[in-house]
Amino acid sequence: MKHLLYLKELNQEIILQLLDKAESFLSHNNYPTEKEKILQGTILANLFFEPSTRTRSSFQIAATRLGADVINIDEEHSARAKGETVIDTINTLEAMGVSYFVIRHRERNIFEKMIKSTNPGSHIINAGESDESHPTQGLLDLLTIRKHTKNFDRLKVAIIGDIKHSRVARSLTEGLTAMSVKELTLITPDEFKPNMEHYPNASHSNNLDEGLTNADVVVALRVQTERIKSLRAAIGPKDYFENYGLTEERLLSCKDNVIVMHPGPMNRGVEISNAVADGIHSVIKEQVTNGIATRMALLSMMQEQLPT
Ligand code: NCD
Repeated sequence: MKHLLYLKELNQEIILQLLDKAESFLSHNNYPTEKEKILQGTILANLFFEPSTRTRSSFQIAATRLGADVINIDEEHSARAKGETVIDTINTLEAMGVSYFVIRHRERNIFEKMIKSTNPGSHIINAGESDESHPTQGLLDLLTIRKHTKNFDRLKVAIIGDIKHSRVARSLTEGLTAMSVKELTLITPDEFKPNMEHYPNASHSNNLDEGLTNADVVVALRVQTERIKSLRAAIGPKDYFENYGLTEERLLSCKDNVIVMHPGPMNRGVEISNAVADGIHSVIKEQVTNGIATRMALLSMMQEQLPT
């Protein structure tokens, strides 16, 4: 695992190794032991060409704790704003000794091109690619689910919202498929129904109560307004909340010990109510903490595989 672009590239065994490693970091509050600081002497660059709070900070904390130096570059304040290509930016940073590139980009299929143009010792990690892929979010979601439930092959997972434009739903589905999840239901209004070819083992419902029945895990998603060309077709926030907003009442259709997840950022009162976001079933803050452990596990495993 030199690069990470898509979760579908990882089999169950590797995913389990990553989750186990992440759990071991979690068991000591996400602080590695001296021996585990294996990124000492390396530099990681966060290159974010779309906004981010969680993913970028989480990679920064993970890499710093493992001993790396971290630099953060965003589009607005870099030579990208002067017309430099991403490849030239990467090659420039490589000349400064950067070997880990954590990249978020709005274009699809750009990551393969980056890999072709980088040094053999460089690592490219996809931190969000258009509506296509967000593998580390998928991994931290799997870790969060496993910490509460263990057996994926007995679980019903329901994902609600704008699945058509969601890279989070795509990556989580790839991960759940690798873990042989029992049942996956996608709940969306018709305009947000995804191409079901990307969700071969999932069922679809446009009815929230029907889709939530007996769910063990519920994932609410933000409407990806920045990816929707015409908002004309999309329903307004009030209607949306009435039909697809996750409320305590709606949760009654799920299993008693259901967990509620959301990748953030949340739009409270649109896809989720305050009571659910902050309620006893919510594991949304745990997802954030698990994100650091997951990224530490990924970076450690990439570094461990280097020949000494
Ligand atoms: C998500 C993303 O960027 O895809 N956020 C995240 O990384 N936690 C979800 C979103 O923006 O809605």
